[in-house]
Amino acid sequence: MGGINYSEKIPNNVNLANDRTLQRALEHWQPKFIDWWKSMGPSDFQGAEAYLRTAVSVNADGWARYGAVKMPDYRWGIFLADPVAERRIGFGDLMGQPAWQQVPGEYRSTLRRLIVTQGDTEPASVEQQRLLGHSCPSLYDLRNLFQVNVEEGRHLWAMVYLLHAYFGRDGREEAEELLARHSGDADKPRILSTFNEPISDWLSFYCFTYFTDRDGKYQLKSLAESGFDPLSRTCRFMLTEEAHHMFVGETGIGRVVRRTLEVMKALGTDDPSAIRRAGAVDLPLLQKYLNFWCSSSLDLFGNEISSNAAANFANGLKGRPDESQYTDHVLREATLKLATPEGDQEAPMLNALNEVMRESYLKDCEIGLKRWNRVIERAGHGALALALPSAHFRRSIGSWVGHPVDPQGRILPREQYDRRLYDWIPSEADRAFVRSLMQRVVEPGRMAGWVAPPDRGINNLPLEHEYVRFQ
Ligand SMILES: [Fe+2]
Ligand SMILES: [Fe+2]
Repeated sequence: MGGINYSEKIPNNVNLANDRTLQRALEHWQPKFIDWWKSMGPSDFQGAEAYLRTAVSVNADGWARYGAVKMPDYRWGIFLADPVAERRIGFGDLMGQPAWQQVPGEYRSTLRRLIVTQGDTEPASVEQQRLLGHSCPSLYDLRNLFQVNVEEGRHLWAMVYLLHAYFGRDGREEAEELLARHSGDADKPRILSTFNEPISDWLSFYCFTYFTDRDGKYQLKSLAESGFDPLSRTCRFMLTEEAHHMFVGETGIGRVVRRTLEVMKALGTDDPSAIRRAGAVDLPLLQKYLNFWCSSSLDLFGNEISSNAAANFANGLKGRPDESQYTDHVLREATLKLATPEGDQEAPMLNALNEVMRESYLKDCEIGLKRWNRVIERAGHGALALALPSAHFRRSIGSWVGHPVDPQGRILPREQYDRRLYDWIPSEADRAFVRSLMQRVVEPGRMAGWVAPPDRGINNLPLEHEYVRFQ
């Protein structure tokens, strides 16, 4: 196992050739996907050759092959992680029973909704990022953007495969709908609001890959625990691709920090307006972008108290990320203390699982902040250290909706909150300034002035490599 068959029209490791009906259905969907890619994918770069990695095996070591490809020729396909022999459900009321190879009738609509909701985010992010290529800070970054984009396209394939293979006609209809909704569309928007926010500059792109792709990681981790085995295997392989997206975010923000510190040193000041005049991103401005994207991504975990989350867990459909690290996998007795605007409340753990996930997500988010802050401190600017906003700041979902809480978690008088909001998230002027920095740089090895070069190139190639070749 592990090997992927590339001689077929749709590369796969699920023996598609043996299921002619499924093969035909997916071959029918494939041209619609390519049309979507050409009209909604990276704008104007369909003829460019990008140095991309393609999965050749699903084994953890060395699964990728690198080469120059035109994006519409990318070999999207269906890759599932190898099965775990005699896998059993690892949590909930059905714990210990054999994992399901087919969809249990009673969970059919819930599983379909989970798959559609995940699937919808994948093409959404490609749509959100489609204009970024025009303002890339380097060829290296442009290539990374395209790598993220083709892999999100493949994640769509992953979910569409499940819909086609296990959900019959309504699955096929949902697969069509995944290409019909569009990010930010007034009539047919994407399902989750974060995926309707435009990503019009590269600072937002780095924040999105850092915070929002990390939400993706946590969703995939919890679905990788699912008792529905094909979903688990699909998500396990998607996670290996997802890691690169977060790498782009973490190193991207890290490079912005490094460049800003260089400019501060050269100017001998930390005055934001002087830094901006020198064409770099002052750290308080970066902090506003972190506040914006972190708070927006926190909403993706849903309400603190959720009967859906409880049912999904109890029924073995969706576990906690890294379920095996916990000792109690049933949670019928456990409780969790929740901070609400009305004070602390004790909630049944089963109903508070969205919050459990949000907390472990935030811990994961802290890792990058520690790295960036080490660099800031070493440069002698510890007072400008970056921080995650309070999980109660600017929430659009859950018990903190509409409460005037600042990024430090303090409840403020409404009037003060309204007056100060743009001290914490980017104002129109901040966004206009960031947009003014977004000048396209495509000379091999060169970097825009607002971001430091990365430590190394892709796949051991030098930074000067021509990672994207225009026709
Ligand atoms: Fe994805
Ligand atoms: Fe991603």
